[in-house]
Amino acid sequence: MLRLLQKAICSSKHQQIRINLRNSEVYTMHDAENYIKVSHAQTFPVYKSMLDEFENELSQMKGKCLDIGCGPGNHSRDLILPKLSPECSIVGVDISKNMIDYARKYCAKEKRMTFKVMDIETRDLKKEDIEAYDNGLSFFCLHWVQDVRCGFENIFKLLRPGGHFIALSVVDGSALFTYPKLAKYPRYKEYMKDYLKYITPIHYEENPRSSLKKICEEVGFGVVHMSMREIMLDFKDEAELMTLLLSINPFIDRMPESLRDEYTRDLLQEALKQESFYKKVEPRASQEQSLYDLYKCMVIHLKKPIS
Ligand SMILES: C[S@@+](CC[C@H](N)C(=O)[O-])C[C@H]1O[C@@H](n2cnc3c(N)ncnc32)[C@H](O)[C@@H]1O
Repeated sequence: MLRLLQKAICSSKHQQIRINLRNSEVYTMHDAENYIKVSHAQTFPVYKSMLDEFENELSQMKGKCLDIGCGPGNHSRDLILPKLSPECSIVGVDISKNMIDYARKYCAKEKRMTFKVMDIETRDLKKEDIEAYDNGLSFFCLHWVQDVRCGFENIFKLLRPGGHFIALSVVDGSALFTYPKLAKYPRYKEYMKDYLKYITPIHYEENPRSSLKKICEEVGFGVVHMSMREIMLDFKDEAELMTLLLSINPFIDRMPESLRDEYTRDLLQEALKQESFYKKVEPRASQEQSLYDLYKCMVIHLKKPIS
């Protein structure tokens, strides 16, 4: 089953893309279709509670709202847009051209949405983007940013004075934190040398909230709210978990075919070994079991001062 699943994923037309970034080859999330298939069920409850919590702020947003790391655009269109005031439009940005191409097609009929490629960690923000956006949002993206200060400096520069920025970012979770384990396996070592690039430095901070708050304040933001939350992802079976793990895995496509089945199995096993994971057998249908995965996330609400 794993072989079939992995084959389906690797042969998807939305395969991995490579982007040259700061002279190094960086692999970004690439499998838009599989990500859409499994991420909605997982992230919907999280989106719903975030969008409810910030209902007032969102409904008052006018002008252009950035969605940073918008991915395939499904959540921007189906969940975020209906919560914004009708005078508000979304500009979805993502480092992955593949994701942006997908989002443009997915949202083609939506006149209030446009998309463009942007690396939020760039050292070379385009002039036309500076103070071009009234507000910003970001879900499940900022944990990919290695230079956290640079990322928040850019967000500060992109927003107009008085702009709000609301985000949810992962601090701890099995999908990413299997990487240090797998990178130690002699057979995967050479394909995972840069695994640290895919784990947020905030994860390693003793007090992630105060470290991030300090950075945001130093950048110039007013911190309206910042807190750590636990969220539970609920997978119906191992295949669903594996689809999500593979859709965001940057290493497997670097490996020879002969290693991929084994890597897929090890990835699943290492994920299931994480402390955050537990299985629950449903009482009424004893054949069925759910896999719960506990993630720690940061909820962030910042405001750029008026002057
Ligand atoms: C897990 S997806 C989340 C997509 C969408 N926001 C959602 O909630 O479904 C993370 C997205 O962040 C993008 N991303 C990663 N690093 C980025 C960066 N430096 N700048 C902009 N986007 C980035 C990835 O390409 C990917 O599409």
